[in-house]
Amino acid sequence: MSDFFQLVPERASALAGRVDALLYFMLAVSTFFTLLIAGTLVYFAVRYRRRSPDEIPPPTTGSLSLEITWTIVPLALTLVMYVWGASLYFNEAVPPPDALDVNVVGKQWMWKFQHVGGQREINELHVPLGTAVRLNMTSEDVIHSLYVPAFRVKTDVLPGRYTTMWFQATRTGRFHLFCAEYCGTQHSGMIGWVEVLEPAQFQRWLAGIGAATTPTEAGARLFQTAGCDTCHRSDGRGQGPALEGLFGRPVKLADGSTVTADENYLRESVLRPTARVVAGYQPVMPTFQGVIDEEGVLQLIAYIKSLRAEGS
Ligand code: CUA
Repeated sequence: MSDFFQLVPERASALAGRVDALLYFMLAVSTFFTLLIAGTLVYFAVRYRRRSPDEIPPPTTGSLSLEITWTIVPLALTLVMYVWGASLYFNEAVPPPDALDVNVVGKQWMWKFQHVGGQREINELHVPLGTAVRLNMTSEDVIHSLYVPAFRVKTDVLPGRYTTMWFQATRTGRFHLFCAEYCGTQHSGMIGWVEVLEPAQFQRWLAGIGAATTPTEAGARLFQTAGCDTCHRSDGRGQGPALEGLFGRPVKLADGSTVTADENYLRESVLRPTARVVAGYQPVMPTFQGVIDEEGVLQLIAYIKSLRAEGS
């Protein structure tokens, strides 16, 4: 297709073709019915036009079979769209467990990325070809939305919580990334590139940036400087629960309910520790709101994720 008229952006992810197929299906159904309805309208207007001033048409009382047909057919078609769309949505909502993690912090008006090795980039994101990449995203100020048209993915980036988005690039090259949520004066400038490299090339690129402090290492340091380690002792005899092997596990709370120790729960426990207290412990932990910033919280979470339970 020519550059002048392009119905969809270029495709560069495993998901893109499937999204486009659904779009084309919906477009075909809409086109078919638009033509059918408009054509029938014109045909009937001519065919049943009034031919003389005293012509009175015979009364019509309706048709059950016609009513049933125009109920069942659209219902079936929209159900197909619904199931198809939902399956795509679930595919997009659940990243594969072995995906490569990248932390994303949006702020007015830039995108900050950090790789697991600690390498940082701004408004550019380098990723390896054919590898699932999972973005853990949060905002330092207002609502942003990260959008990569060539990958057919877009997810809001919110202050105060984590959202995730994942993709698997199928082509090397440079692809636009945008902020797709109006976030102030420079919103239109909050753009950048995703650069997809061959895996070996990606490793060289990472090495070229040099060894950086990884989020896990930074988190381990923060865990001590902020004094977390005085209460969260690994022998479980501190004032707070031990954190080894905690991540991803269900946690029993003081009110009897259970929560999964995911990123959002850990973040909340750092910034609003008394919100959901673990069963068997007192709500004595001070808040770290305003003490540890979003990046620090991400580092602490990376560190907690790295803590394996004894013997596992
Ligand atoms: Cu950030 Cu628009």
